[in-house]
Amino acid sequence: MRLIAERLVLRPFEPGDAPALAAYRSDPEVARYQAWESPLSVGRAAEVVARFGADAPGGVGWFQYAISLEGALIGDLGVNLHENRMQAEIGFTIAAAAQGRGYGTEAVARVLRHLFDDLGLHRVSAECDPRNEASARLLERVGFQREGLRRANTWLRGEWTDDLLFGLLATDHR
Ligand SMILES: CC(C)(COP(=O)(O)OP(=O)(O)OC[C@H]1O[C@@H](n2cnc3c(N)ncnc32)[C@H](O)[C@@H]1OP(=O)(O)O)[C@@H](O)C(=O)NCCC(=O)NCCS
Repeated sequence: MRLIAERLVLRPFEPGDAPALAAYRSDPEVARYQAWESPLSVGRAAEVVARFGADAPGGVGWFQYAISLEGALIGDLGVNLHENRMQAEIGFTIAAAAQGRGYGTEAVARVLRHLFDDLGLHRVSAECDPRNEASARLLERVGFQREGLRRANTWLRGEWTDDLLFGLLATDHR
């Protein structure tokens, strides 16, 4: 399963992705609002990459796309397909050195096109910490609407954090 975008390729993870994954998951700024292990050693990243690589694209549950720019891993984008196969949740990361150039927007827009146009989904959801303005702006830029706030709902890196909730319906996407 490969999704080709203007500048990016979204593809399954490969063993050679472990060092780049370890590098950006170990960056405190990138990890700040994310639940994953950080810092992440290359050895542990290899285990994570193997787990990602074993998941089936289009299957129920999480599938993690590697976001590749000219062959280099610059981030990842997870899709959690609901068991009804009509809804999904997404989450995404772009390495600091590649941020601010539209890659996050391009990757999310490409996956949304796949989910709505190819798979015929009804709805896609996303959430972020309200302090994560870059993520909230990206979601609104691609068409998501703010739907609410779950207060002090997630225990993250030593504190209870709020979840800002976003949704995008197939009817909005068209
Ligand atoms: C949130 C995140 C994925 C955004 O990634 P990004 O690649 O920097 O996003 P973009 O480049 O598409 O958008 C960032 C800015 O670049 C601008 N930009 C530059 N060139 C652009 C282009 N060609 N197309 C679209 N936007 C462009 C955007 O307008 C945007 O401006 P803004 O600051 O007003 O929002 C990134 O900051 C990140 O990974 N953060 C850490 C992990 C994280 O918190 N993930 C989300 C968890 S919910």
